[in-house]
Formats: sequence, C-alpha cells, structure tokens
Amino acid sequence: MLGRGDVCAPILFVGEGPGAKEDETGLPFVGQAGKLLDLALESLDFAPEDYYIANVIKCRPPENRTPLSDEIAACMPYLREQFRLIRPKIVVCLGSVASTALLGPDCKVSSVRGTWTERKGTHFTATYHPAALLRDEKKKLVMWQDLKTVKNMLSQLRDDHKV
Ligand code: URA
Repeated sequence: MLGRGDVCAPILFVGEGPGAKEDETGLPFVGQAGKLLDLALESLDFAPEDYYIANVIKCRPPENRTPLSDEIAACMPYLREQFRLIRPKIVVCLGSVASTALLGPDCKVSSVRGTWTERKGTHFTATYHPAALLRDEKKKLVMWQDLKTVKNMLSQLRDDHKV
C-alpha cells in the first residue's frame, strides 16, 4: 500500500502504517483516523490536488503493533522513492513514528509540532497522529492549529512562486 492523493502535490503527509481498514482497501488513512484527517483538511480548504498521503510502513504489523526499527528501515526506500517522485515542498509527519523516522530519533511530536525544519528546499513539520485525537479530544484543536501553519506555509510558498 503506497498512498493516495495527487502525485504532483506540494504537500506530502506521512503517517505510521496501515491499519485494518487500510490493509483491506489498499489506501492510507481511510479508517476513523483518516476521516478525522480528511475533515480537518476540508475545514481548512486544502484542495485535493494540494496533498498526497503516504505511510512510513507499507504493510500492517501483526496485531497492529508499533513498527520495529528494522521494519521501518526495510520500508524507507519506498518512502524515499515516493519523495523523489513527488518532490514535495512541504512534508508533514503525522505522529511519532513518522517524526522520528524523518526528523531524527530523538524527535518528540509535542516539542517539534508547529515548528519547521528546511532541508534542500523542503519544509518539514510534524503534528499529532490523527488516531491520537480519537483518544484525546484536546489534541484536535492543536492539530487543527498545526494544519493552519501548514496552510500558511503553502500560501507563502505560492506567493514566492516556489510552488
Ligand atoms: N494510521 C496510519 O498511520 N496510517 C494509516 O494509513 C492509517 C492509520
């Protein structure tokens, strides 16, 4: 399972790995967490051509457990290739697996969320995983605010003709 969205999009969202519903359909973020993400993106007027959604891990780990580091390492070449083909200007890590895989092993979502790191012209940020919002309602507003900064970054890059 690779991803969904526009392959020419300026934004790449990266989640953890497929859950049961995603394994069934072959598409990322189509379960409850995905519905929340879609709702948040719609409420902020992101257009479907603005983003592509992928996962670090391409197959569901047994019992839906957190992926192990060797599983992450085995799947990274696929994500790197997706990155190379899409060439996003913005990458949004959803949750700690994506954040540690892409921003560094010590990265904590609560510390880096809403902040930006630029690497070779691509702007990286992180926010909570949508599934975390299902467990903790208070995180909904925080994630929505983080996505607003993503929207602002996209507008800024468009104004600067970088997208
Ligand atoms: N959680 C993820 O990280 N990815 C999905 O595709 C679905 C749920």
